[in-house]
Amino acid sequence: MRPPLRSFLFIPGDSEKKLAKVAGCGADAVILDLEDAVLPENKPRARALVSAFLAAAPRGARPTRYWVRVNPFDTGLMLQDLAAVMPGGPDGIMQPKTNGPEDVRRLSHYLDALEAAHGIEAGSIQILPVATETAVAPFTLGRFADAGLERLAGITWGAEDLSTALGASTNLDANGEWAFTYKMVRSLCLLAAHASGVQAIDTLYVDFRDDAGLRASCRAARAEGFSGRVAIHPAQVAGINDSFMPSAEEIDHARRVLAAFAASPGAGAVGLDGKMVDIPHLRQAERVLAQAEAFGG
Ligand code: COA
Ligand code: MG
Repeated sequence: MRPPLRSFLFIPGDSEKKLAKVAGCGADAVILDLEDAVLPENKPRARALVSAFLAAAPRGARPTRYWVRVNPFDTGLMLQDLAAVMPGGPDGIMQPKTNGPEDVRRLSHYLDALEAAHGIEAGSIQILPVATETAVAPFTLGRFADAGLERLAGITWGAEDLSTALGASTNLDANGEWAFTYKMVRSLCLLAAHASGVQAIDTLYVDFRDDAGLRASCRAARAEGFSGRVAIHPAQVAGINDSFMPSAEEIDHARRVLAAFAASPGAGAVGLDGKMVDIPHLRQAERVLAQAEAFGG
């Protein structure tokens, strides 16, 4: 089982200054961005910087995982992005504005060829689609589960591009919460990820100076079944990492669930503190302990 990645920190690919912050940022992965954080006229420079950055630290010698967000198919820029970054062996590709699993499959075929061309282990580069950024995308989320996409690491969602696609003037309601459409696609993303057996990654928290708000929002997301989140500023990484770790009480409870099952071999349901725990609780306890172990909790 691959350990879940809690935090993905976006780094604009054209910013040497921000790229220099990667080593100490503490994120489980960084996303070197070639898409929306980079103006069209800066794309060639960003490609060159990101490709040099990847090549400077080969896999195995990196302080964290290096993902790249490429441009989407309809821009005609994706192949140039991939041609530039693949020699450096990125750990994963974030694919924005996907319309559905067929888009992920197409990218996966490109990666098959490019891994072979650059001597990279076949199938080792993962894909994280941003799967709600177009009007059609939410309708295809249910198809991820049966698509057999072996590179799929998780599914994430985005509100900004979707509201642009809908001609909406805001994606928030009168209380400052996500408006209904965005709550809906967020839930569909969560369901699609779990239906596919991959991580559900929550979208960014815009107010990067509000650490308490970020932590509360991440804890709520984790309680719903998200296991990680995108960050836009280094100051968000610690809050995300902490919030997506199981708490000491959860770890303790999980250990006691395992012990209760171990004490009753062959039982599908056991009693713990006067409550029934059965196989779904056992699986959940195993998940909690696997995550705690992966990140030294
Ligand atoms: N990655 C690495 N370093 C970052 C960073 C990031 N995402 N965001 C900020 N920093 C650095 C800054 O360069 C600055 O460094 P310094 O102290 O050496 O000057 C330090 O952290 C503090 O930054 P701050 O002044 O608080 O923020 P800012 O005004 O420079 O930048 C943003 C604000 C939002 C522009 C910036 O955080 C950013 O570029 N975020 C990512 C945007 C992105 O990739 N979007 C695409 C996905 S939605
Ligand atoms: Mg975008």
